[in-house]
Amino acid sequence: MFKIVTPQTDDALAAYYHFRWQYLRQPWNFPPGSERDEYEQVSEHRMVVNNDGDIIACGRVHLNTAEEAQIRHIAVHSDYQRRGLGQFMLNALEAVARELGAIRAVTNSREISIDFFQACGFKVEREAPNELGLLKRQQMVKKLDDFSLLVLHPEWCQELQNTWTETIPITEHMGIKLHQYTGKSLETRASLNKNINIHGTMFAGSIFSLATLTGWGMIFLQLKNKGLDGDIVLGDGNIHYHKPITMKPRAVCNIERLKGKFTLLEKGKKCRLELEVEVLDDTQPVAEFHGIYWVLPKEDGK
Ligand SMILES: CC(C)(COP(=O)(O)OP(=O)(O)OC[C@H]1O[C@@H](n2cnc3c(N)ncnc32)[C@H](O)[C@@H]1OP(=O)(O)O)[C@@H](O)C(=O)NCCC(=O)NCCS
Repeated sequence: MFKIVTPQTDDALAAYYHFRWQYLRQPWNFPPGSERDEYEQVSEHRMVVNNDGDIIACGRVHLNTAEEAQIRHIAVHSDYQRRGLGQFMLNALEAVARELGAIRAVTNSREISIDFFQACGFKVEREAPNELGLLKRQQMVKKLDDFSLLVLHPEWCQELQNTWTETIPITEHMGIKLHQYTGKSLETRASLNKNINIHGTMFAGSIFSLATLTGWGMIFLQLKNKGLDGDIVLGDGNIHYHKPITMKPRAVCNIERLKGKFTLLEKGKKCRLELEVEVLDDTQPVAEFHGIYWVLPKEDGK
């Protein structure tokens, strides 16, 4: 079995950099140390280890801008190549990039790894600046806001995200993003940095907004699922805050926590729906929202 880990101790980091050097610098006779650059401190580092704890793959991602993540230094142990580990590492780094708010990933690929990145959805954009004065590289790009990898019904999820962006512009400022929809549950995430208060925790009003939007989004998706249409409005909402959010704001609405009958809408009548949304700080539950929403039939019947 393999698992992705973040090197945290000095020893783990030393082993991680050594692995990177072995695969990405030593073959071209660059000395130890040449595998590091000025972005190490601001990067997220990951490695894959096997059952014995040996490193068998490494990779790194950092933000070039708020929207663009750069993926670098992916390497897989020669005994383990072509077994999906490169893709496994790349998926993990892309997930990190999405969580950091990036909508695009770039990488500068050597000729030899272009096929790998292409197989993983990257496209060649142009020739990259020549680093180390040696190896020609192509800059390759991949869009990260493609919902098809994360969600069921990507077209509905894209429509929901667009509806939020266009009709409730504050969602954009709060960095609220649909993260995952499985058909049974909807998860959204928000940027902590964009919602921070003077205590360095997430502003309670933003938590409330994240929760109400998640409930709203769940109903939007259920309407799609049932082939119905209507205007969704919040009738009443209560939230209980237990703990502050200091890391990763998430909100989850499970279908089992949604009660009410959509059938009235089919008869041209409004329907009342009641639901609960759990708010988490990474994996820790921090607040519960209880909301009553009404779905009103579209007046023009459209
Ligand atoms: C490039 C590298 C990271 C790929 O890792 P990997 O674990 O072997 O790749 P995966 O098994 O995840 O490959 C996924 C897909 O990419 C494509 N692919 C990967 N390596 C390929 C190669 N050498 N030639 C053609 N296609 C390749 C294939 O489509 C593959 O799917 P398939 O095996 O079902 O056909 C690995 O070969 C490596 O470490 N190379 C040396 C270091 C390096 O060049 N790193 C890139 C830095 S720019």
